[in-house]
Amino acid sequence: MQTETNTSIENAEKATIEMKSVSRGYGEKWDREEVITNFDLTVNPGELTVLVGPSGCGKTTLVNLIAGFDFPESGEILINGKPITGPGHDRMVVFQETALMPWLTSYQNVVFGPKLRGDLTGQDLKKKATDLLTKVGLSEFMDKYPLQLSGGMQRRCELARAMINDPLLMIMDEPFRGLDAMSRELMQEFFVRLFEDGGRTNLFVTSEIEEAIFLADRLVVLSNRPTSVRKIIDIKLPRPRNFHQLTSSEAFDYKREAMELLHEEALKGFGAAAGESQKAFMESLTKTPS
Ligand SMILES: Nc1ncnc2c1ncn2[C@@H]1O[C@H](COP(=O)(O)OP(=O)(O)O)[C@@H](O)[C@H]1O
Ligand SMILES: [Mg+2]
Repeated sequence: MQTETNTSIENAEKATIEMKSVSRGYGEKWDREEVITNFDLTVNPGELTVLVGPSGCGKTTLVNLIAGFDFPESGEILINGKPITGPGHDRMVVFQETALMPWLTSYQNVVFGPKLRGDLTGQDLKKKATDLLTKVGLSEFMDKYPLQLSGGMQRRCELARAMINDPLLMIMDEPFRGLDAMSRELMQEFFVRLFEDGGRTNLFVTSEIEEAIFLADRLVVLSNRPTSVRKIIDIKLPRPRNFHQLTSSEAFDYKREAMELLHEEALKGFGAAAGESQKAFMESLTKTPS
């Protein structure tokens, strides 16, 4: 999308996130569940890092730790070298569930945070909010309430609501899940352009491999629980990205590699939950006949 706005969005400082030997589990000794163990990951500044992993593997747990909504039981998480001690508007999270307040218009939702904190007021706030809403294609919808917006528009309003804080890091936890296929594709295209425009550090969580490959600079394939990094795949498709690239042989190779790894991990989970005999049965189903 073309835009003439040039607020500090493009110049925002970029975050480096370092997770060092991070562990988090739930429950007491007798019903203990280890979710993340000795998790190491560096999210590089200005890159779009995508975490992909089976459902229930601990992606949202990781998001909550980096957002500062939750804390590691051991290990440490640093943002630009400093430990994360709680939530802060230097890290904005966009979840699948809408966080828009239904009784406020798009504009009022976007200005809500800065207004509450008082760190941006008057004409400055108005200009920044209007620029951002224009950037996300909602200039005609500033006075509409969330329920009057389509699913895709709601997600774009969420992006504006997060971006007005100039976060050092944007964290997206399966933000496009639940959208119909066409809207989802449009949102991916829109989001990748926004990222390429701004170059902000982004951590994007998904369980969709194609979405992951389309967006990522680095694709982090997660293992089954207890979760660790199974493999990091550098996605070298040129930017700006477009959907035609997904039909290239390069993209196909990335997809095959990621799918094979994820399939192995999903089978491990299935085995753990259902017993080894069912796992062997599942494996036999996926074997190509000789
Ligand atoms: N607050 C909590 N208390 C107990 N268990 C939790 C809590 N949060 C997450 N879990 C467990 O951690 C595991 C990973 O969950 P989650 O991070 O939401 O996975 P994902 O986002 O990859 O689907 C799940 O088995 C879930 O039951
Ligand atoms: Mg989740």
